[in-house]
Amino acid sequence: MRFSTLFTFVATAVLTSAGPIRVARQAAPVDPSLGFLTILELGAAGFYTGLLQSFNASDYQASGFADGQAVFDIVNTITNSEITHLTFLQTLSGAPLPNCTLDFSPAYADPVTGLATARVLELAAIGAYVGVIASDTISNNTEVFAEIMGNEASHEGFLNMLLGGDPFPQSFELGITPAEILTLLLPFNPSCTPALTLTPNTPLTITNSGPITNTTTLTFDLSSTPCANQSGLFCQLLSGDDSSAAALPIANCTLEGTSGALLTYVTTDSTPISADPLQRGNLTNLCAGPAVTFVDPAVIPPLDALLLQPAPTAANSTA
Ligand SMILES: *[C@@H]1O[C@H](CO)[C@@H](O)[C@H](O)[C@H]1NC(C)=O
Ligand SMILES: *[C@@H]1O[C@H](CO)[C@@H](O)[C@H](O)[C@H]1NC(C)=O
Ligand SMILES: *[C@@H]1O[C@H](CO)[C@@H](O)[C@H](O)[C@H]1NC(C)=O
Ligand SMILES: *[C@@H]1O[C@H](CO)[C@@H](O)[C@H](O)[C@H]1NC(C)=O
Ligand SMILES: *[C@@H]1O[C@H](CO)[C@@H](O)[C@H](O)[C@H]1NC(C)=O
Ligand SMILES: *[C@@H]1O[C@H](CO)[C@@H](O)[C@H](O)[C@H]1NC(C)=O
Ligand SMILES: *[C@@H]1O[C@H](CO)[C@@H](O)[C@H](O)[C@H]1NC(C)=O
Repeated sequence: MRFSTLFTFVATAVLTSAGPIRVARQAAPVDPSLGFLTILELGAAGFYTGLLQSFNASDYQASGFADGQAVFDIVNTITNSEITHLTFLQTLSGAPLPNCTLDFSPAYADPVTGLATARVLELAAIGAYVGVIASDTISNNTEVFAEIMGNEASHEGFLNMLLGGDPFPQSFELGITPAEILTLLLPFNPSCTPALTLTPNTPLTITNSGPITNTTTLTFDLSSTPCANQSGLFCQLLSGDDSSAAALPIANCTLEGTSGALLTYVTTDSTPISADPLQRGNLTNLCAGPAVTFVDPAVIPPLDALLLQPAPTAANSTA
């Protein structure tokens, strides 16, 4: 079963979530802007639940993973984390809980597409919590948001490895604004009641096919953007390690020298986009974006060779 209608799912998650649940601390109502976190965690919990039901261990094995059962078990663990995060958000008194639907069916085309979608959603979640922690309206829950962000980052490191990436290619994570989160969710046709008071950016379509590596030059389809017929445009690449994006002429949007996740934008001039999500509310030079681009090594490191052999016993693993 695929989850295109998530409200039913939300109700079920609350009833069946058996694990310990962190309790929200605030007395006063939480900032209404947290509605965008709800749609994100609704999306993540619904997406993983659908992924769990779409592919079994044999499907992962058939897609080329050496141990399909292990991949399935990890997806199961992450699903439980995301349901727990959603349940926590639902305990925030005053937080609006929009009734949202998202359609993830294209993401379940095959197991690798599913895991690649998970990687984007985890990146979005990390970036969303960075942005929320950076804003000053949610002070009494900052600690728990930081704890959730760390959990999402653990998921991301593992998904990076599963998909042949460097597990932690940068030293800093990306912060992402609410409007950018909604932009990244647009492919899944989000629809909320009440509607979010949030306008997404124009989405950016990257047209490269095949693997994206540090020798790739990105190409774009701008036909549905306000900049379709403009010349002199720039692409901007923002990694977690940057304090602002690198602006390149759009015809030379080379990923040379980059590694890991990049937020990619197209702008009308080369004024660099700030890494601080609080500075990205009003970009006057923005045509479209961000899109998420993962730059993976051309040669996958033999990570299995790094595992401790044999597995440690309980006794010596605590030494
Ligand atoms: C945070 O908690 C304190 C006391 O515990 C309370 O006075 C304050 O209103 C709360 N702030 C918010 C934003 O909820
Ligand atoms: C796994 O799912 C596939 C379809 O995706 C199905 O053909 C197969 O029988 C399932 N295997 C097991 C062990 O359930
Ligand atoms: C949420 O949306 C679904 C589908 O549109 C609808 O069936 C359901 O009644 C809604 N629930 C609430 C609480 O509005
Ligand atoms: C761009 O130019 C072409 C041909 O000149 C025109 O057909 C098209 O409508 C223009 N697109 C936009 C978004 O202005
Ligand atoms: C393209 O960008 C790269 C990286 O900034 C730079 O080294 C190179 O000179 C540029 N090439 C052209 C043709 O502008
Ligand atoms: C590209 O990545 C490889 C590792 O996959 C690295 O050895 C190489 O130096 C990188 N090249 C550039 C230009 O970043
Ligand atoms: C963006 O600019 C508009 C007017 O141009 C202003 O009303 C709005 O408050 C600004 N928003 C932010 C987040 O700076």
